[in-house]
Amino acid sequence: MRKKVTIVGAGQTGATLAHWLAERGDVDIVMYDIVEGMPQGKALDLLEAMPIIGSDAKICGTNGWEETAGSDIVVITSGLPRKPGMSRDDLLKVNSGIVASCTKSVCALSPNAILILLSNPLDAMCHVALQESGFPSSRVFGQAGILDSARFRAFLAMETGASVNEINAYVLGGHGDDMVPLLGSTNVGGVPITKLIAPDRLASIVERTRKGGGEIVGLLKTGSAFYAPSAALAQMVDAVINDRKRILPCAVHTGSDGAGYGIPNLYMGLPARIGAAGVEEILTMDLTTDEKAALQKSAGSVQELVDALKNLDPPMLH
Ligand code: LAC
Repeated sequence: MRKKVTIVGAGQTGATLAHWLAERGDVDIVMYDIVEGMPQGKALDLLEAMPIIGSDAKICGTNGWEETAGSDIVVITSGLPRKPGMSRDDLLKVNSGIVASCTKSVCALSPNAILILLSNPLDAMCHVALQESGFPSSRVFGQAGILDSARFRAFLAMETGASVNEINAYVLGGHGDDMVPLLGSTNVGGVPITKLIAPDRLASIVERTRKGGGEIVGLLKTGSAFYAPSAALAQMVDAVINDRKRILPCAVHTGSDGAGYGIPNLYMGLPARIGAAGVEEILTMDLTTDEKAALQKSAGSVQELVDALKNLDPPMLH
């Protein structure tokens, strides 16, 4: 039977995710949004494109939760995007309310779904979704690492002239300005990146990666990035639907044992095996001393947001 994917929030990222998925054609898609007519209009428009591209994907748009019932995967993109000058963290209060209420409504009707989060600040929103869904953490995870790594890979490809396919690079940590591009393991076709790019150039590429989301916000002025974020979501959905066992950097819960990184009970970007069961394993990488320190610092920033959610009135996390 074809799998059902619900996309909560039919804005730029949600709609573009629907587009990527519809083109692949292997799932049926429900687009939910509170704006009347908008998800229906986008879904119908996309459905009408299917005869042209030859896909039998079923796509519907709705303002009601009933149509989402029995979803295999739910992707939550709802929330306000950043405006120029805002950090992802500035969105904490308003987006935690939106994510909490959407999670509750959608999970009640799709109790076996795998939940993938996109709303910012991402790592903190994963904590909210974990709490509100009552799901095990293997079924609640977030998109950020694929995007951050893709930005890093795109910049490294531009710098070296190599194909993006030859650039192997991970960006781990929280989806914030202190995310951690792993220089120690980054390579182009197996050649260490530090042998190919001078330290000052590499440092500026790392900085551009960290500020990659803000660079797009600054250019667009009225919203944040959506092509690359939605492509990353589509890759995660594909990994689950087709049980691909891909190793993808995702915002995952480190569990009480800290997943080998010494950082317990926190959502942050780490490499994980993604398959039909969701997060099937978190991989423990060998990090350099500097990378370990940077990961701890990034975890500290996520923890601050988690604490801020606990201190909101009323608290969004217990
Ligand atoms: C970005 C936003 C989506 O990094 O977090 O572009």
